[in-house]
Amino acid sequence: MIDNAAYVIRQARPRDAQPIMELFAEATRWLAGKGLDQWQGPTDRRGTLIRRDIGVRAVWVVTHLGRVVATITVDDLADDDFWRRTDRVRSALYVHRMVVARSEAGIGLGAALLDWAAERARRKGRARLRLDAWATNDALHQYYKNLEFEMLRNTPVPGRGSGALFERSASVRLGIGPPLVSPAAARAAAAADSVARHDVERIPPLVPS
Ligand SMILES: CC(C)(COP(=O)(O)OP(=O)(O)OC[C@H]1O[C@@H](n2cnc3c(N)ncnc32)[C@H](O)[C@@H]1OP(=O)(O)O)[C@@H](O)C(=O)NCCC(=O)NCCS
Repeated sequence: MIDNAAYVIRQARPRDAQPIMELFAEATRWLAGKGLDQWQGPTDRRGTLIRRDIGVRAVWVVTHLGRVVATITVDDLADDDFWRRTDRVRSALYVHRMVVARSEAGIGLGAALLDWAAERARRKGRARLRLDAWATNDALHQYYKNLEFEMLRNTPVPGRGSGALFERSASVRLGIGPPLVSPAAARAAAAADSVARHDVERIPPLVPS
């Protein structure tokens, strides 16, 4: 039994590739509807990259009410199209492919995921959390700035839409958004809830005097 109402974060399994692809498809439609060119190019490599990264245990999903509602990839890979040796690439952990389902927009789930990733960075002894974002999307840049990321530079790379480089200290936690719990914590919460319900059922009904 698992507390379905919780936002549960766990490592993605191969069968999560499909729901993750659906999150991307939904986000791509949403971006197109806003008139943005982000992610509007060919997407044929996306499935391969997601499956590859699931295979190396770098992909995470958030589930809620039994559904995959967000994903994030976190690893050591400083894409050398963007990051230079002078950036001290080993000083950071890198976020890729963060997507939140539209059904959960506006509650700070992305911010919670970035706090979670920052905690992973800190535990690995990394001083920074970094990501590259779509170069021409000012609203997206503002999103990261609002979450205390600093834009280091924006150098569009031919053939890559991304290129706006952001970083935040691994010690920053904004505490926005729902708590993200492990599957074990969600199971423990569900078990405690079930015990509490059982106890309530055992209280004899009040007899009117
Ligand atoms: C970025 C994202 C994960 C953040 O999730 P979140 O923390 O739950 O935040 P929300 O979805 O509520 O978005 C917060 C604000 O940022 C804006 N925003 C988020 N991503 C945006 C994007 N790619 N382009 C333009 N605006 C974007 C939203 O419109 C919203 O603006 P509002 O406050 O004026 O309504 C999620 O918005 C998303 O999946 N975006 C599309 C995919 C994406 O761009 N991922 C990041 C790749 S670097």
